[in-house]
Amino acid sequence: MKITVVGAGNVGATCADVLAQKDAASELVLLDIKEGLAEGKALDIWQSAPINRFNTRARGVTNDYEATKNSNVVVITSGLPRKPGMSRDDLISVNAGIVKSVTENIIKYSPNTTIIVVSNPLDVMTYQSYMSANLPRTKVIGMAGVLDTGRYRAFLAQELEVSPKDIQAVLMGGHGDTMVPLPRYTTVSGVPVTELISKDKLDAIIERTKFGGGELVKLMGTSAWYAPGAAAARMAEAIAQDQQRLLPCCIKLEGEYGLKDVFVGVPVVLAEQGVEQIIELKLNDEEMQLLHQSAAAVKEMMDALDKING
Ligand code: NAI
Ligand code: 2OP
Repeated sequence: MKITVVGAGNVGATCADVLAQKDAASELVLLDIKEGLAEGKALDIWQSAPINRFNTRARGVTNDYEATKNSNVVVITSGLPRKPGMSRDDLISVNAGIVKSVTENIIKYSPNTTIIVVSNPLDVMTYQSYMSANLPRTKVIGMAGVLDTGRYRAFLAQELEVSPKDIQAVLMGGHGDTMVPLPRYTTVSGVPVTELISKDKLDAIIERTKFGGGELVKLMGTSAWYAPGAAAARMAEAIAQDQQRLLPCCIKLEGEYGLKDVFVGVPVVLAEQGVEQIIELKLNDEEMQLLHQSAAAVKEMMDALDKING
């Protein structure tokens, strides 16, 4: 198994490190445009192999796409991160150019790969990569739901004083303020969360989750990387190891949930072929309305991208 991570910045390097520690692939390539950056980080990761006890060979390259040849999975993290005061959407035109050229280069050497997009604004960059890759929709997916659900579960674990390992949850919709948390599908080892927490506290956690990315940008002056890197690695591992994991991921919908030609997060099963199932939950009217509102916000940004691309 071979995994490539494009972008050796905060998220890409963290993702590569997590993948190596999990021995998710026999070969791991890290690629960046900054001379020496990917080489240095990959060498550093490889030097941790005897200490962390893994076999994955990490190799860094500067813009050398031939080294990515025959990758089973490619994670695209290249692009500008947010600075304080910026929204994810402010990044659209510059990151679209980067995602487009990276996807075209990747496809030249790995025409049947599965692409996981991380660059922001996430749902729209997944659309850009899908257009540039010419792959089936099940092979170009975006990472947001795993991260957003992680934040939600972490806040809940803290509030309930239980292990984060025991919290199962799913969030749907776009990666942004319109994301759709689903308390009905949130449990603590099978116990509905609504039996364990007051509505006010749960609502406050949902609000904090929606703005979880912004909270970290304010604290650090740039966007987060540990949880995003781990989330992207979780998805790449599920595909590389054919794990059939049910995870919320961004994918092009073609009629599911009454939505068409829009990229939003829904629960899917990830395995060797990419998305092998799209799960259609029976949403109630309110949840469906929130999902459609979120999809409409993404659609607006997709239209803006279409204009940029002429
Ligand atoms: P960063 O600035 O630390 O790293 C980005 C890297 O991309 C840099 O090393 C840069 O040299 C490289 N790069 C730029 N253009 C490139 C190209 N054409 N080819 C190869 N590499 C190129 O940024 P960070 O924090 O790693 O974030 C990366 C992206 O991920 C940002 O767009 C950020 O907004 C997004 N992000 C998305 C999340 C999500 O939930 N989907 C969560 C966190 C970040
Ligand atoms: C995050 O949610 C900025 O999308 C990035 O941390």
